[in-house]
Amino acid sequence: SLYQYGMIGLGTMGCNLVLNMSDHGFSVAGYDKNTEQVNRLKSLTNNSNIGAFDNINQFVASLNTPRVIMLLVPAGKIVDAVIETLKPIISKDDVIVDCGNSYFADTQNRIDYLLKDGIHFVGLGVSGGETGARFGPSIMPGGDVKAYELLAPMLNAIAAKVNGTPCTAYMGKGAAGHYVKMVHNGIEYALMQMIAETYHVLKNICGLNNKAIHEVFSEWNKGKLQSFLIEITAAIFLQEDDLSEAMLIDKIADTAHQKGTGAWTSKDAMTIGSPTPSIDAAVAARTLSSMKNERVKAASILATTTNGSTANINIQQIEDALYAGFLITYAQGLALLQNASSTHAYDLNLKTIASIWRGGCIIRAAMLETIMQAYEQEPTLQNILVSNHISTEINKVLPSLRDTIVNAINFSIPTPSLTASLHYIDAYKSAWLPANLIQAQRDFFGAHTYERTDKEGTFHTKWHTNIQ
Ligand code: 6PG
Repeated sequence: SLYQYGMIGLGTMGCNLVLNMSDHGFSVAGYDKNTEQVNRLKSLTNNSNIGAFDNINQFVASLNTPRVIMLLVPAGKIVDAVIETLKPIISKDDVIVDCGNSYFADTQNRIDYLLKDGIHFVGLGVSGGETGARFGPSIMPGGDVKAYELLAPMLNAIAAKVNGTPCTAYMGKGAAGHYVKMVHNGIEYALMQMIAETYHVLKNICGLNNKAIHEVFSEWNKGKLQSFLIEITAAIFLQEDDLSEAMLIDKIADTAHQKGTGAWTSKDAMTIGSPTPSIDAAVAARTLSSMKNERVKAASILATTTNGSTANINIQQIEDALYAGFLITYAQGLALLQNASSTHAYDLNLKTIASIWRGGCIIRAAMLETIMQAYEQEPTLQNILVSNHISTEINKVLPSLRDTIVNAINFSIPTPSLTASLHYIDAYKSAWLPANLIQAQRDFFGAHTYERTDKEGTFHTKWHTNIQ
């Protein structure tokens, strides 16, 4: 009999999703042009509801119609190449589901392109890494509703569950699924960066060794910071190196890599005018870290300008600072989604998004429960920071964020994402900002006009100047 679903790309993620689907009773045909990957899938399972092919025509012929073909291949040109291979051998009403981290604008173009042939293209974000794919990821599908409905029962079955609720839901029209996954990754970048900044503070201001840092993160993971990223961070500080006597963390080069999803988030946030400074700072911090040679050279030329202060910070304050940073970052990401929802006409539901991020994904965290409840109480909430519950929480921990940053600055320790988080909330909660001066300057040099506080309309002034 024919298979219900197809999967192209049998790397770790694709393979694990196939096994997950099969475990939940769905029949799946896997295809990879690399025979080794096909054989690996075969060697991993005896499940009779899995097929494995290295011939694309046989693969396509093995599928039930309308065909639902999932892709787990690297984002970019390879997705287009696979689409071109499939297009002549599949039919109207078939569905291609891109499960990779594709750029949302590419996804929209592919939707439009394939629709000319009556083929539906679904952009679907999957988060949770290898283990998530195998045992329950968070899944963010978007696009054509009818195409989504062909997937829904299977997605609900294979997704992570929180209190029995699947961590997947229809996100919205067009490229909504990939957009939400992109913002998920932007938030992921900022959370990771802020955790790294607190590591720097714990190591260089508090003078803690790896074992002690492990204990700190383990404790934090039992409290309000409870989250996947804090949990793995705690584990990382216990890992011994196989190749030396040292702890592994001390042998890993301090140059962070990135595949682009964080930068995409910042770029679109800038384009649509929704500030995400904590994410922007995290992207820049990774890039700065990668400039290792320049940094080493500069370290020998530029003075370390510590101002001689003694440390005045405790672990509890650093925990509160990180918690504040996390909440402020979720606030920026969710506000971006709210704005993108109108700009890109996705019709997103913020409560649903907070809900499906509670489990399975990399940014899952206990605080998402509170965030979800904030949207439950106030579905049109513009920014979670002003919701009843979260404003109370933030007001309690903001002084600690400030104190942590002041100490870091005094010790010449860069904390760009934590600081950007503080600046974001300081600006957001300012009834007055010095932007009147910016407007005056714009009008001065470019006659760009300004509004007044006391009269309606736009104004231009002939400014007094001696500048020739
Ligand atoms: C996830 C992750 C996943 C991937 C990151 C890594 O949600 O499971 O986000 O998609 O590991 O995209 O991104 P970088 O290589 O850019 O750090």
